[in-house]
Amino acid sequence: MSRPKDDGQRQAWSRRNFLATTMVSTMSVTLLERPAARANPQQTGIDPRAPLKVTLRVNGQDRQLALDARTTLLDALREHMGLTGSKKGCDHGQCGACTVLVNDRRVLGCLMLAASVEGQDITTIEGLARSDGTLHPMQQAFIDHDAFQCGYCTPGQIVSAVACVNEGHAGTDTEVREYMSGNLCRCAAYPNIVAAINQAKSEM
Ligand code: FES
Ligand code: FES
Repeated sequence: MSRPKDDGQRQAWSRRNFLATTMVSTMSVTLLERPAARANPQQTGIDPRAPLKVTLRVNGQDRQLALDARTTLLDALREHMGLTGSKKGCDHGQCGACTVLVNDRRVLGCLMLAASVEGQDITTIEGLARSDGTLHPMQQAFIDHDAFQCGYCTPGQIVSAVACVNEGHAGTDTEVREYMSGNLCRCAAYPNIVAAINQAKSEM
């Protein structure tokens, strides 16, 4: 009389074993597939930490660099190319000290990855004067109007001011202040900066 119960137990064990075996097999396949799907750099031969070869065109000259892919344009200029005119104030997009031009448009070098502007025309404060040493009208105007004190913000101010005029945003003092508002000056040379821009805009 115990036989049906034994059969039932055997069937239950069989089902349990079957399910367990199936689950283990499925998990094994999944686990075995994972390493292939997430191959590590040594398996693929691609190391994401390896230097990236980047060619930057700065002030009319091509410069070939090997950079960590995370290098900002500001760090590439300052640390890898020796162009220290662009300043690092906040390093997170708030002060404008790092302003440079990319294809004649203002960008914050601290927020831009160097690799993302490969092949584009980058202009820094070092590229504004002529090759004979003659200052750009905006640089001369900043000197004429004493538009700085410590000078730390000045390269960014001048580069930004050049773009402000070229954009057609220097019609009035109010417009100049609005379109230069991304460039902070701790020394508060703002009235002199506006005066300098007003002088330079007629000479550019
Ligand atoms: S250093 Fe780039 S915005 Fe301040
Ligand atoms: S001149 Fe000193 S921060 Fe502008």
